[in-house]
Amino acid sequence: MKPSVGTPIDRIDAHKKVTGTATYAADTDVTKVAHAVIVTSTVGKGAIAGMELVDARRAPGVLAVLSHLDAPRVASGKGSHNEHNPGERVLQLLQSDKIDYPDQPIAVVVADTLERAQHAASLLKIRYTPDAVVATIEQAINSAYTSKAMAHGEPDSNRGNVETGLGAAKWKLEATYTTPVENHNPLEPHATIAVWHGDELTLYDATQGIFGVRNRLAEIFGIPKTKVRVIDQFVGGGFGCKGSPWSHVALAAMAAKVVSRPVKLVVTRQQMFSLVGHRPHTIQHIRIGCDAEGKLTAIRHDVINETSRFDEFVEPSALQTRMLYACPNASTSHKLVRIDAPTPTFMRAPGESSGTFAIESAMDELAHLAKLDPVELRMRNYAATDPQMGKPFSSKSLDQCYRAAADKFGWAKRKPQPRSMREGHELVGYGMATATYPANQQPAAAKATAKPDGTFLVQAGTQDLGTGTYTVMSQLAADALEVPIEKVRFELGDSTFPEAPVSGGSMTVGSVGPAVVEACKQLKAKLAATTDRSKDIVAEVKTELKERDLYSFHSFGADFVEVRVDEDLGIVRVARVVAAFAAGKILNPKTANNQFVGGIVWGIGMALQEDTVRDRRTGRIVTHNLADYHVPVNADIPQIDVIQIPEKDDHVNAIGTKGIGEIGITGVTAAIANAVFHATGKRIRDLPIRLDKLFV
Ligand code: MOS
Repeated sequence: MKPSVGTPIDRIDAHKKVTGTATYAADTDVTKVAHAVIVTSTVGKGAIAGMELVDARRAPGVLAVLSHLDAPRVASGKGSHNEHNPGERVLQLLQSDKIDYPDQPIAVVVADTLERAQHAASLLKIRYTPDAVVATIEQAINSAYTSKAMAHGEPDSNRGNVETGLGAAKWKLEATYTTPVENHNPLEPHATIAVWHGDELTLYDATQGIFGVRNRLAEIFGIPKTKVRVIDQFVGGGFGCKGSPWSHVALAAMAAKVVSRPVKLVVTRQQMFSLVGHRPHTIQHIRIGCDAEGKLTAIRHDVINETSRFDEFVEPSALQTRMLYACPNASTSHKLVRIDAPTPTFMRAPGESSGTFAIESAMDELAHLAKLDPVELRMRNYAATDPQMGKPFSSKSLDQCYRAAADKFGWAKRKPQPRSMREGHELVGYGMATATYPANQQPAAAKATAKPDGTFLVQAGTQDLGTGTYTVMSQLAADALEVPIEKVRFELGDSTFPEAPVSGGSMTVGSVGPAVVEACKQLKAKLAATTDRSKDIVAEVKTELKERDLYSFHSFGADFVEVRVDEDLGIVRVARVVAAFAAGKILNPKTANNQFVGGIVWGIGMALQEDTVRDRRTGRIVTHNLADYHVPVNADIPQIDVIQIPEKDDHVNAIGTKGIGEIGITGVTAAIANAVFHATGKRIRDLPIRLDKLFV
């Protein structure tokens, strides 16, 4: 039978989505559901001095108004960010009068309709004792410290001697690159419906990790994990913000308990900017040098990012710098600065998307100094093995990515001098950069059932963020069972299914895929040994993590970009993008292309538009809506060509995939910044690249 894996089939859930029948968390039909809204603080720091709740409580339809004055005490209002669960955040569950950041939850209003809850919320009168706010890293830069809260790896690294290396360099530069606060804007906002049956809690929750939500909520309410069930069959985009259970999930459950009814709580678009994390502002300092032949002699990459007063998140922007190029002397560091802001979190390619902006811009600057073609500089420093770990890569086809994308792009037509290419009043620039993201994996479990009617049911407690999990898992299962895909039904998004990890770090397929394949293989073996097919036959497996110490696991890619800059107005437009990626085995070229293109589109937004602006006096977010926080629309997006480089990886996991959800965004911002430099001769080291920065 012809394998399904590797064929570009349509999404299995496509019909449901385009016909509006896919049930997202907030769409779940729950009888007698009440509606909750979160009221947030209008000051950024201090305490609540008084609350007048009478008018709100008397308003029509109101069932409860919860605040620190009388909210139920919960077992854990304070989470921990231990190394086992870097996705756990300290939550604000109305347990005290203290205010630690602007727009922090301070009350929850529950009513029989959403409109009545919103109206009652508007009647709350709150007095504050405000304190002065530190709204940006720059205001507190001297307090930078090293934190242990990094999700993977150590905050600092060193090999060789950077100072010696820089001393030996013929060409060198020192520069600071900055990226702004950015916010996730998935189409589907966060939403939770909480239903209690006695001491058992069911949550319909928009999440990237149903088990993380289950475990955290069990801890908060002091009940066994087995008494919490989390369901989420469709996710309208996650991108990291849905990787952790945030305060609103527990507040919905708390409200449901208080009113003895199911409660639905949808985070508003404006609240999405303060309640569910953000990509932190980063300040990245780079020193880099090469010899006369263009061989790197030293790289130093030092990162500072903001975190909140009460919790820590490290944006690991220098991680890729440790392994990207062969260079004997390299050191990196990550530091935090505490400010009065909400806690940052994972946002698509956390680390690599902001970090490649810095290192891949610096490489372009160095190429210009050394009068080398930017691709040539990278090839002269090609890392055949991981230079930090001293281990081979499980697979690496970056050279093919450079070649394939450069050819298709027509890189050879680039004239090296900045401002040397134009068309009418438009300056034309070509830029390129390297893309990279680690190939992550965690243990996962899956269950396969052969039904008496000849169909198969395969289940795993994973998620489909819109990425195609339903589709590729069905393809894997069909091939392992050697049946047509129509005979297979794959189910996910229910914590009563076998446990799977959070869908983050581009690891869903690499983690859950091997479990699905193994369960199906075992089921097939069982079937071969069975003659009685009148009952369900089941195989359930849990994968262990194989030895991952022998190799370094990363995907690689290359982005080539053409920009057009209006010489009079400074407007930058991306005219075309050609990118090539090698990410192990591609299970479905169509859904994979969607992931790569989606990442690149976001890279264009990150390069040119996205910017969460805070008021320096209050710390409050000025751009907390999609009118002021700009994301690309169709008119901003040019032709994007993605080349998928075939790559066989026998080491990364049992199915040879390396993950494709995040690599697409990496490198894009630097490729655009490099193209803008090539077009204009202006080096912009501060994202986003807007016309005001090109004018000065
Ligand atoms: Mo992704 S930022 O690891 O959800």
